[in-house]
Amino acid sequence: MNQSAQDLVPVIAIDGPTASGKGTVAQRVAQVLGWHYLDSGALYRIVALAALRGHVALDHESALAQLARKITPRFEQDRVLLDHQDITLAIRAEQVGAAASRVAVHPQLRQALVELQRGFRRPPGLVADGRDMATVIFPDAALKIFLTATAESRAQRRHKQLIGKGFSAMISDLLRDLKERDGRDESREVAPLRPS
Ligand code: DC
Repeated sequence: MNQSAQDLVPVIAIDGPTASGKGTVAQRVAQVLGWHYLDSGALYRIVALAALRGHVALDHESALAQLARKITPRFEQDRVLLDHQDITLAIRAEQVGAAASRVAVHPQLRQALVELQRGFRRPPGLVADGRDMATVIFPDAALKIFLTATAESRAQRRHKQLIGKGFSAMISDLLRDLKERDGRDESREVAPLRPS
């Protein structure tokens, strides 16, 4: 598909902080419209998981960018596969989410993921969720939504999600980690979390 044809494909961009419910909303909207869905946070989580497993330091920018250029994740229905391994559950661990927020501060790594994310823009349309969907990746999105909620209700939401997936978690720890993650996502120099 050439660039100008791709630019005509409509995009709905949903950004917001962690556990705000943007993923659930985006998935439902995509399902109802019959559009494609991009969970951009999953890409950062995949890079973080690959870095943790491959003992790549989370502050080694060029090595992380190289890793990001190499990975070929596959999204199949509700499953995420990397090198034929099912990592659906592994990338949802809190430790991986926190590592994702740390690797996401590096401009070279973010740049390495740009084309991969734009590649999800295919007919008949795309619903994309993340932090910089409306500001950086799809600035021409037809609809831009910034979805947020209080830190307390997001911590409760994340707690429910983790327990439902069989992980153990304490709301007080989640609240602390979530505030730390918000701070990092909002204050980084490149593509910080903010409404378009
Ligand atoms: O949405 P999430 O919790 O799965 O995202 C995990 C981390 O990835 C988040 O803390 C910051 C980073 N991220 C990002 O920097 N840009 C995006 N578009 C999506 C996620």
